[in-house]
Amino acid sequence: MKRIVSGIQPTGSINIGTYLGSLKNFVKLQDQLPDHEFYIFIADLHAITVPKEKQFLRQKIKELAAIYIACGLDPKRVNLFIQSEVPAHSQMAYLLQCHSYMGELERMTQFKDKSKKQEKGVTVGLFSYPTLMAGDILLYDAEYVPVGQDQKQHLELTRDIANRVNNRYGDFFTVPEPLIAEVGAKIMSLTEPTSKMSKSDTNIKSRIELLDPENIIKKRINSAMTDSLGTIKFDQEARPGISNLITIYSSITGKTYEEIENIYDGKGYKEFKEDLGEIVYQELKPIQDRYNELLNSKELTEILDNGRENASKIAYKKIMKFNNKIGLGRK
Ligand code: TYM
Repeated sequence: MKRIVSGIQPTGSINIGTYLGSLKNFVKLQDQLPDHEFYIFIADLHAITVPKEKQFLRQKIKELAAIYIACGLDPKRVNLFIQSEVPAHSQMAYLLQCHSYMGELERMTQFKDKSKKQEKGVTVGLFSYPTLMAGDILLYDAEYVPVGQDQKQHLELTRDIANRVNNRYGDFFTVPEPLIAEVGAKIMSLTEPTSKMSKSDTNIKSRIELLDPENIIKKRINSAMTDSLGTIKFDQEARPGISNLITIYSSITGKTYEEIENIYDGKGYKEFKEDLGEIVYQELKPIQDRYNELLNSKELTEILDNGRENASKIAYKKIMKFNNKIGLGRK
């Protein structure tokens, strides 16, 4: 069976960057690829690479689970689970660390960026994080991994590790392909449109969160940074602010950049931003309604139990086979 694997960290409130770059894509793919099995998870082990307060983490795990389903993941199509509830993920990470090199991990740009921001020291977990991610993917022999642009380098490393293991022990892992959305793979900050929109940005105005109320959504769009030209034209390099807003518009409505430029030909930012605020709100409103129904429901618990059972079976078998391949334990 062909498989698709992906995850999101429960490190903060989910914003429209994560939604448009990954979640919305998962929902599309589950309909487009009916012959694939989906393993989608809440990457809580990844979240502790930077220390987190216990209650906060628990809450974010539950919220993210509800968000996944509220965004349209179909529990009949998708195995949704919490990463730490399938211990094979941690085990695989260790086995892959023994097949990875310090030099290749040191080159990871996300490690370089994140480690600079740590005031209380950098954990070994933050350094070895890409091997945990490689393990998440290789455990299930994923064929495709839908991610945003910022995860591309981690996917390349995963492919290198898979090829290395395959060369050393004979074909063992499927070498995965990243699936990166054509539009929306890198949504930028609303206040600083040359940086990625991020859950951890200290400026709350830089993003729209999935659970933000209507007035905040519209306020954030209205105050999003643009430029003094006043025309609705896509030009990522020269005009990152308006281009980012056009990208958000395009990835929600499915309209091309050209179609959007034509609609707003001769019109200004005010009208464009008013429309975009309404478009984003209309996209998020049904998600918020469903989220509120799900958050403390038995339905959500059952979905996560079921996902854990299905994921565990595959992951456990793969670990046992890998141990055997390497020569660990008894045959
Ligand atoms: P995370 O939690 O940082 O982000 C989750 C997903 O959302 C995408 N994304 C964005 N896409 C477009 N614009 C943005 N501004 C934006 N911000 C985030 C990310 O690219 C990602 O696809 N290490 C991963 C989680 C992970 C994972 C995995 C993913 C753990 N194991 C295995 C795939 C397969 C992470 O931290 O993503």
